Amino acid sequence: MSHVMNTYARQPVAFVRGEGVWLWDETGKKYLDALAGIAVNTLGYKHPKLTRALTDRINSGVIHTSNLWRIPDQEAAADRIAEITGLDEVFFGNSGLEATEASIKVARKYGHDRGIAEPAIIVMEKAFHGRSLATLSATGSRKVQAGFEPLVQGFVRVPLNDLEAVRQVAAHNRNIAAVLIEPIQGEGGINVARLEYLRGLKQVCDENRWLFISDEVQCGLGRSGKWFVYQHAGFLPDVVALAKGLASGVPVGACVTGGLAKGVFKPGNHGSTFGGNPLAMTAVVTTIDVIKEENLMNRAALVGELIRKEIKNQNLPSVAEVRGMGSMIGVELDRPCGELVLRALAAGLVLNVTAENVVRMLPPLVMNEGEAQQVLNKLIPILKTFLVTRAAA
Ligand SMILES: Cc1ncc(COP(=O)(O)O)c(C=O)c1O
Repeated sequence: MSHVMNTYARQPVAFVRGEGVWLWDETGKKYLDALAGIAVNTLGYKHPKLTRALTDRINSGVIHTSNLWRIPDQEAAADRIAEITGLDEVFFGNSGLEATEASIKVARKYGHDRGIAEPAIIVMEKAFHGRSLATLSATGSRKVQAGFEPLVQGFVRVPLNDLEAVRQVAAHNRNIAAVLIEPIQGEGGINVARLEYLRGLKQVCDENRWLFISDEVQCGLGRSGKWFVYQHAGFLPDVVALAKGLASGVPVGACVTGGLAKGVFKPGNHGSTFGGNPLAMTAVVTTIDVIKEENLMNRAALVGELIRKEIKNQNLPSVAEVRGMGSMIGVELDRPCGELVLRALAAGLVLNVTAENVVRMLPPLVMNEGEAQQVLNKLIPILKTFLVTRAAA
């Protein structure tokens, strides 16, 4: 029996080798990866530039120093993130929840600085922000919260894409300091916030001097077809939370501030031993540079559109809706479909099911159109068989 704590229902497969968008398991079986380690492996596997940069960093002998000293790789990574986000300051942690937790702390500190004794944050139904106590309290899923009460106070929940609900809160609650939103909900089932809604939300934030916090841990870093989803809507948030795809597999999280949030954190307000270490920062710099050099945002848009369009064209009765943006792809089925993960593995395809009945694909951004076609060649027969098994049931 394994001594690994039993917090995940793991599938009986172990990937031991990878190249491009392909993985191999212990038996030598080959798989096409349409999940990228849940939106993490931006550059796929064994990207020569990332391998070289990380190897050079390791060979330098310095993979960790401390935030007590200057870290030139961290400065280079922060410069790049400032450039692509349009914001000003970057705090580095090691995971998505650290990025959102820091964002929540920024919002509270901002509220206190404005004289709000008990600042509150508007959050969305079906949102996922992490599993620390504050971030699971911000998360809109009872399953994630159950057993961990008392929850952290100070979150007011509204439905996604309902601007009137936000206006109602604005009219009645003087304690709000910020809105925290995933502009495309990942764990919640690939639920896309309408761009018009995002713009309206930003306007309400501006009217009330609330921070707009965009949790782009899953949807950011080129996956939507632009660096960030808020860029599709055409405005700048005050805080952006990043992680997952930021370093192509090396653990990194980042809380990025600008606008009203600039300068809110002062020395001593936050910290991390590992955050921003040279190894992780090398991966950030290389990931961002390669996304630019290889025009991976365009690719993400093309590949996602191709997959969504072709599945829609099939008109499969078991498919309730196909949705997403760029290379965030959700196929909602008409009933729970967790078993499709194993069926896909059997067919040599790596994908995931979230929110019980949504097949989720988040391919590496290096996937090309030919490989996307191969995803479809594997997936469509599986969706068709699923239909037949339902009819037989
Ligand atoms: C939008 C969003 N925020 C935060 C998190 C938490 O990230 P992590 O699992 O790295 O703590 C996730 C993870 O799925 C996420 O999708």
